[in-house]
Amino acid sequence: MSKADIRSATDITLTTTAGNPIADNQNSLSAGPRGPLLLQDYQLIEKLAHQNRERIPERVVHAKGWGAYGTLTVTGDISAYTKAKVLQPGAKTDLILRFSTVAGELGAADAERDVRGFAVKFYTPEGNWDLVGNNTPVFFIRDPLKFPDFIRTQKRHPRTNLRSPAAQWDFWSLSPESLHQITILFSDRGLPTDVRHMNGYGSHTYSLVNEAGERVWVKFHFKTRQGHRHWTNAEAAQVVGRTRESTQEDLFASIDKGDFPRWTLQVQIMTEAQAAAWSEATGLNPFDLTKVWPHRDFPLIDVGVLELNRNPGNYFAEIEQVAMSPSNIVPGIGFSPDRVLQARIFSYADAHRYRLGTHYEALPVNAPKCPVHHYHKDGSMRFFQNDTGNADAYYEPNSLDGPKQDARFAEPPLPLHGAADRYDHRSGNDDFIQPGNLFRLFDAAQKQRLFDNIAAAMQGVPESIVRRQLALFTKCDPAYGEGVRRALKLDPVGDDRIKGTSATDEAKESDGIPA
Ligand code: HEM
Repeated sequence: MSKADIRSATDITLTTTAGNPIADNQNSLSAGPRGPLLLQDYQLIEKLAHQNRERIPERVVHAKGWGAYGTLTVTGDISAYTKAKVLQPGAKTDLILRFSTVAGELGAADAERDVRGFAVKFYTPEGNWDLVGNNTPVFFIRDPLKFPDFIRTQKRHPRTNLRSPAAQWDFWSLSPESLHQITILFSDRGLPTDVRHMNGYGSHTYSLVNEAGERVWVKFHFKTRQGHRHWTNAEAAQVVGRTRESTQEDLFASIDKGDFPRWTLQVQIMTEAQAAAWSEATGLNPFDLTKVWPHRDFPLIDVGVLELNRNPGNYFAEIEQVAMSPSNIVPGIGFSPDRVLQARIFSYADAHRYRLGTHYEALPVNAPKCPVHHYHKDGSMRFFQNDTGNADAYYEPNSLDGPKQDARFAEPPLPLHGAADRYDHRSGNDDFIQPGNLFRLFDAAQKQRLFDNIAAAMQGVPESIVRRQLALFTKCDPAYGEGVRRALKLDPVGDDRIKGTSATDEAKESDGIPA
């Protein structure tokens, strides 16, 4: 609180929510000094009733979060690819960024190994653009049909009410598309010291459209300018013993003292022709969320700088009630055939209507900073007027000059082909090359920490599940499966057998003699 906010007690009279002055806020209204209370003590009733309504459902995922306001300043020039005003050279756009962990509840400790959310709402002159990403460029699944099951394994077991490593590894070992994200999660990057020292990624493939109506595919990256910092499991355990709010403390304090965190916004661009050629050459799908685009083929292009420079004034109003929706998109930025993105276009706005209410977009933190003209009508907590320029224009089309569609904002058509079917998303999609490549990038110490982190997370998991998962690591790289097996102190038998090693070799290994 600044000095200017501290006013003397006599300046402001306490009131009810209806503005009626309150004479006594210390003593309830009773019949006699020791008697029961009177129903007419409206002030007491209002206080208790309000308290009972202070909680709304926490987010079904990403419940624990930390956020701040800031700006995006565009220093590069990608106007050849997009007409979006927010991405034009020199543009400066206000934003709010909410970071989060995925699995923990609202009161979870911050220093936990988990993916971090990196969700940005840009208040652009063409409406809000929400880029709801993570601190990882890929994800655990590539088909949204699997999302509720995946999340179920991350949350509490229905009987024990504890998180279940057995369920997690059962699901992962049956879902090899998760290998890339698992390798990141259990590497150093899976436990950042705070959110200033990590990258953010849009993760999905999106599209950009330029003034000429030409479309390219794009991936968004936010590279931390603070450098990367991580905790080991042991360090994090100490931190959690000291404070459960380490990330909140770090982010709030650094902004409060004027040490504003910054990220460089970069994009990778793929033309439609390049997408077809890359797909042909590698067999990979440019819209597969479990894959990255190699930087050497699709170099990073600098776009601008994202800075966080203002803490929220009220955490509940501005961070708990911020509603991030991948469906919020602006002219010049569009979706792609990524099927997980397609599902998210539905899921978030639906979640907000349930969690916050029908008119959640009208809450101050969510309200666009540009004129809003729509015909949506009533519902709980309607506290705005429809700005249609004419009270009689409450439907559309009308002959009263109410707001109407404008074909200038149409996207170029996207050719689609193929018969409708439930195609096996596993066939023809390699799950092992990219996680194997990432594994091979790690130095010996990083690899050992990866093995140890995975082994720690597998404690108590049935051996059959562990063996199934080891076989998957081995398919990424024999040294990967072998390293985890050794960290688990398991004998080299079963499905995780390394291809090409003989029974004798395995026997030697189990005796501690390297094959
Ligand atoms: C939050 C659904 C995949 C990042 C949420 C929420 C839902 C959801 C329902 C809670 C929204 C709220 O109540 O405010 C889904 C579904 C997915 C999916 C159905 C896949 C089928 C992803 C992916 C990413 C992601 C791939 C990142 C690339 C986030 C983030 C939040 C979130 C950052 C928190 C947003 C905030 O800070 O308010 N997700 N999600 N999710 N999700 Fe997802």
